[in-house]
Amino acid sequence: MHHNAKVISANTYAGYPTIMTLQELEAMREYAHRDPHAFWLKQAERIHWYRKPTQTFSGSFEGDVSIRWYEDGQLNASVSCLDRHLAERAEQVALISQREGRQDIEKITYADLLARVCRVAHALKSLGVEKGQRVAICLPMVSEAVVTMLACARIGAVHVVLFGGFSAEGIAERLVDSGAVAVVTANAAYRGPKLIPFKETMDEALQKSEGAHKVRSMLVVRTTNENVSMQHGRDHDFHEYIKGFATEFTPVIMDAEDPFFMLYTSGSTGKPKAIVHTCGGYLVWASYTMGMIYTHQRGDVLWCTADVAWITGHTSVLYGPLCNGGTTMISDSLPNYPVPGRWWDLVEQCKVTMFFTAPTAVRALMAEDDVVVKRRDLSSLKLLGVAGEPTSPDGWAWYHDVVGQGRCPVIDTWWQTETGGPILGAIPGVQSLKPGSATTPLPGISMSLIDQNGSVVEGSGEGGLFINKSWPGQARTIWGDHERFRQTYFTMVPGRYFSGDAAQRDDDGYYWLMGRMDDVINIAGHRLGTAEVEDALAEDHRIVESAAVGVSHGLKGQGLVVFVIVRKEAVGEVTEKTVSDLIVSKIGRYAVPESVYLVPDLPRTRSGKIVRRLLRKIAEGHTENLGDLSSLNDMSVVGMLCERVKKQKASS
Ligand code: PRX
Repeated sequence: MHHNAKVISANTYAGYPTIMTLQELEAMREYAHRDPHAFWLKQAERIHWYRKPTQTFSGSFEGDVSIRWYEDGQLNASVSCLDRHLAERAEQVALISQREGRQDIEKITYADLLARVCRVAHALKSLGVEKGQRVAICLPMVSEAVVTMLACARIGAVHVVLFGGFSAEGIAERLVDSGAVAVVTANAAYRGPKLIPFKETMDEALQKSEGAHKVRSMLVVRTTNENVSMQHGRDHDFHEYIKGFATEFTPVIMDAEDPFFMLYTSGSTGKPKAIVHTCGGYLVWASYTMGMIYTHQRGDVLWCTADVAWITGHTSVLYGPLCNGGTTMISDSLPNYPVPGRWWDLVEQCKVTMFFTAPTAVRALMAEDDVVVKRRDLSSLKLLGVAGEPTSPDGWAWYHDVVGQGRCPVIDTWWQTETGGPILGAIPGVQSLKPGSATTPLPGISMSLIDQNGSVVEGSGEGGLFINKSWPGQARTIWGDHERFRQTYFTMVPGRYFSGDAAQRDDDGYYWLMGRMDDVINIAGHRLGTAEVEDALAEDHRIVESAAVGVSHGLKGQGLVVFVIVRKEAVGEVTEKTVSDLIVSKIGRYAVPESVYLVPDLPRTRSGKIVRRLLRKIAEGHTENLGDLSSLNDMSVVGMLCERVKKQKASS
């Protein structure tokens, strides 16, 4: 328990341009609690509505689970993010786009961004994309990603941004599941020194899912000089194609509960799930949460390094900052390539004022000598943020003291693809901070910890992390599988949303995240279900069975370790590398295992269930204190596995 955790008083940041006092924050919490309807109607005023909503939440976490917000409201998200800013900030930079290896940094004003979005909106329409249809976007961190997402919003199409790290099979599965009718991708892209073949992978994905996917057309952004094959009639060069279209496009009016976008994430079964967010509630939530934490003032530049394919990329790179009239930045540079401290160069060059990244990146940056940071002028920074995994107190301290020179609050926000935006997070300069804690719920959020007996923990304690009441940015369903949605999130404790995480709460009501309670691991901020790995391996008939577990990893937070039982006839033929390659080809590069162990058996209970808890400990190299082993079917397996892990670790 974190009773003695260090506390950094909000007064430390006396110069920080706070948005409210602590008393006002408390009053806001109280108001949200006392009159949620009035509170959420007021928050809805943050965005532009064609028809203002008179309703806030309707629905229930019980029964079938139905979640609706602002149901009678009508809007178009692109108008809130673009058009309505033109009167005051047409010439303000909306998007800074930086590409590694290029000298010029592109600065796109609100007026220019709107024009580009409209062109692409026309282009998508001309390709036959209709309101409600899905458009898959698989792009590196380039401005066209932002433009295309907003263009989808403009025409009422549902964007599905796919991670560039997915393999062809991973993409194929998602194209089929989402029923995407069009794809926007790149010819290829550099990630540091490595060339990632976007188009080739997409072609392979389409080929693999021939007959099952519904993709009719593809726009290809040329981000490098690589030539790629283009299928006549289906594939078009993005910039060539959009060139002739008008720079105005009448926005399609959407109902608040029309689907806005979907985003794939991993759960505890093998099948990836598309989380569905809707127009009105999501946008209010993006604006509200980013407005509370990353308050944009004129001149502020927010750089969130998250990939656009993640929820942070949607909310903190795009919808939050643009809805709030801010300047946001997108960059395809890696933290330490081609020189250590590359990101700090960019902070200096682009005068970034708010910098937001993942703990895994903080660890990578921290591994460099402090001189790397100190050589750069980071005086533009005033706020630092992290999200995605627990941040260790020492990582936090380094970020705070060395990067922020003790001047900038470090805000750790806890959220999920399913929550649409931050749930836990401090209001900078207003609340005291504790290194390693994601602090407290935002006003309007009611959370509980529930222990193993199903009792609500009062005061300090530990338990599963639940959200008691709906919030506007909550996911509405899993695409095509509402029952899975209900089962995953609402059955653990009826009437409450279960996050899947465990947490502690200290005497001050601060939350400390402890990781997932389900079989989901978090590799450098990427969620991966162990069942996804096991299902992928099960497709190879030479493999009898496998068990995937997450182990702690200095840089990535968690790493993947896989134990595999190979069929007798295939021993010698299936190697550690075969297994590793198989995982990469079925899922993607990000899932490459740290270690693969080919073993004759796995620890099981008498009923044959694999004991994962134990396997995780063994994989981490523990040989003692393995917990209660009395339920095991065959004790000798444990010794054998410990030996095997020890040997392999020693030889590598
Ligand atoms: O386990 C929690 C962890 O990341 C999961 C959600 O991942 P994803 O859907 O990709 O959304 C990331 C949005 C930031 C959570 O269930 N997680 C997220 N933020 C934190 C965190 N763990 C600890 N501290 C955080 N701040």
